[in-house]
Amino acid sequence: MSQSFYITTPIYYVNDVPHIGHSYTTLACDVLARYKRARGFEVFFLTGTDEHGQKVEKAALTQGETPLQLADRVMMRFQNLWEKLGITNDDFIRTSQERHKQGVQALFKLLLDKGDIYLGEYEDWYCTPCETFWTETQLINGCCPDCGRPTEKLKEESYFFRMSRYQEPLLRHIEAHPEFIQPTSRRNEILSFIKEGLRDLSISRTSFSWGIPVPGNEKHVIYVWFDALSNYITALGYPHDPQGLYGKFWPVDVHVIGKDILRFHSIYWPTFLLAAGIPLPKKVFAHGWWTVEGKKMSKSLRNVVEPNMLIDKYGVDAIRYFLLREVPFGLDGDFSHTGLVHRINSDLANDLGNLVSRSSAMVNKYFGGTLPAPAADGDGDETFRRAFAEAVPRIDQHLNDLSFNKALQTLWELVSKANKYIDETQPWTLAKQEEQRERLATVLYNLMESIRLIALLAAPFLPDTGRRMLTIIGQNPEDVTLQGKDGWGGLRPGITIEKAAPLFPRIEEEAIPAK
Ligand code: ME8
Repeated sequence: MSQSFYITTPIYYVNDVPHIGHSYTTLACDVLARYKRARGFEVFFLTGTDEHGQKVEKAALTQGETPLQLADRVMMRFQNLWEKLGITNDDFIRTSQERHKQGVQALFKLLLDKGDIYLGEYEDWYCTPCETFWTETQLINGCCPDCGRPTEKLKEESYFFRMSRYQEPLLRHIEAHPEFIQPTSRRNEILSFIKEGLRDLSISRTSFSWGIPVPGNEKHVIYVWFDALSNYITALGYPHDPQGLYGKFWPVDVHVIGKDILRFHSIYWPTFLLAAGIPLPKKVFAHGWWTVEGKKMSKSLRNVVEPNMLIDKYGVDAIRYFLLREVPFGLDGDFSHTGLVHRINSDLANDLGNLVSRSSAMVNKYFGGTLPAPAADGDGDETFRRAFAEAVPRIDQHLNDLSFNKALQTLWELVSKANKYIDETQPWTLAKQEEQRERLATVLYNLMESIRLIALLAAPFLPDTGRRMLTIIGQNPEDVTLQGKDGWGGLRPGITIEKAAPLFPRIEEEAIPAK
């Protein structure tokens, strides 16, 4: 039986339109999902939309729509973008779906029956944009410490979750599982936050109605974060069918999120789960934050980078490559058109593109497009092959650590080595000497074989390019399996090698949009 792998993105709010920040998280998950499938895992990759809450209710009202109409419209923008970005999610959950509502109510009721949820009264400072309550001391000049906007004093009857009861069990869990919260710097932040003490959490509202009703007391809707976080199990069919998807895929292998919502994922969610007796996620990884040309992305600044526009201009694979290559996954990054164009020109057009076009052209020129059989090793061949054998497990480790940039860096070292192998063996010189025919055959075979391995390893990041490379070297472009195929010597001599068109056209500097 194959091993399972469950990976999730946050479910995105429908009161914003998708931008490169959302694309970043979703892409990272897609790369890992594709890689794990290539490694023979049974993968479940989940994304979706977070549709309830006061913000959506208000936004719909101002646009003369029902909240569901608004959600339907914006949800499509996410789905269309994911399709365009080549995202291979296995399910798309919407919190307005009946399956989700049932699961959330079941979880709420379980905690209510256990006494971990109780009815009380709430009075505190509420930030509507962040849907978060703050204590007086947490406010900064009366405003929300997260977004800086004004807060209002709210008093209402509310259900509370006994989060305080789970402070110690959660601390013990985090301390016993160093891999649970990543990167480590974030883990330390969370540990000190918990040690300051966890208060019971208000988890229902009576001030609006666009949400999931509290079972047995319909005046209350369930707090959006309780509702939203539960998506990770309701999408698997919780509480029904424990032998089905839920049995197979829970606990999740990794929740990938941005650092903005780490507290919800590493404190709220695990304490709900501890209370319910449900195993905790294996890993929560909080990546860094993208700015644009040095500024925070915001609709009012009109600098939100529209992914559709980028894809039309530069191509899907170039965007996928850039976002994951440019910045270490846990750190903040800055998006700039100049940075993007430089990456495309140097890494994709130059390094990868030239390797494929130069070497496939030589097989065509010297062997009429038929892959020759290799003969005995010559100078440098063994070292060349060993570089691949050593890189494969390193890339695997980097991907398991979500170090996407290091995985790409390692892969591009192979691309450089292959280019260097051409420069050192000088096939064009060998071609002029009849007695070097066997050496020339060996060199070109080795180059084609290096392209096969590079294509398979690159395919999770650059699916379209991977397919094109495999087609050029006469392989089935849809078969990107790595398991059992990541060793040297997979190509059969005698197959036809196409003369490749450039994989990535160079972009002229003048084409870079002004800031
Ligand atoms: O928080 N840089 O939804 P959301 C990097 N519905 N990543 C960014 C980003 C940026 N500038 N902007 C957004 C919510 N993201 C909740 C989640 S989950 C149970 C509920 C990404 O639409 C990043 O992954 O505000 C961040 O965590 C997420 O979008 C927030 O999406």
